[in-house]
Amino acid sequence: MALERTFSIIKPDATRRNLTGAINAKFEEAGLRIVAQKRIHMTKAQAGKFYEVHQERPFYDELCEFMSSAPVVVQVLEGEDAIAKNREIMGATNPADAAPGTVRAEFAESVGENSVHGSDAPETAAQEIAYFFSGIELVG
Ligand code: CDP
Ligand code: MG
Repeated sequence: MALERTFSIIKPDATRRNLTGAINAKFEEAGLRIVAQKRIHMTKAQAGKFYEVHQERPFYDELCEFMSSAPVVVQVLEGEDAIAKNREIMGATNPADAAPGTVRAEFAESVGENSVHGSDAPETAAQEIAYFFSGIELVG
């Protein structure tokens, strides 16, 4: 295992319900360190670029509307095996399938409004971090 960084978003359904601290507590309790974090309100075009890998999927337009509907918290999480560990803390995409104790099992409202995003591989983590943060903003 190596020290890794992954990219995370606390989504609009969670910021609306004032869950930023509760979700961050789950990351920190599991040993991930928040090495960069900011609250932003994306335009639909910015959300569309971030999710462009999904542009042919039927949920794409609704996803981009949702992600630009309210502020989000974008963050970089660092730790041993951070990418896989964060996916575990998040739980399955559909909260109905998410393991007990995961963020999505506890907080997600639906498969679309599912409280958190987390990178799925080292390449996407690097791309996603670079989309939102400059090197000087990453403070390990
Ligand atoms: O976020 P995750 O990597 O678990 O799932 P994804 O397959 O990469 O999908 C990205 C996001 O699209 C999900 O987190 C949901 O917000 C949304 N989605 C949706 O609205 N309906 C689906 N059937 C699948 C995903
Ligand atoms: Mg994904």
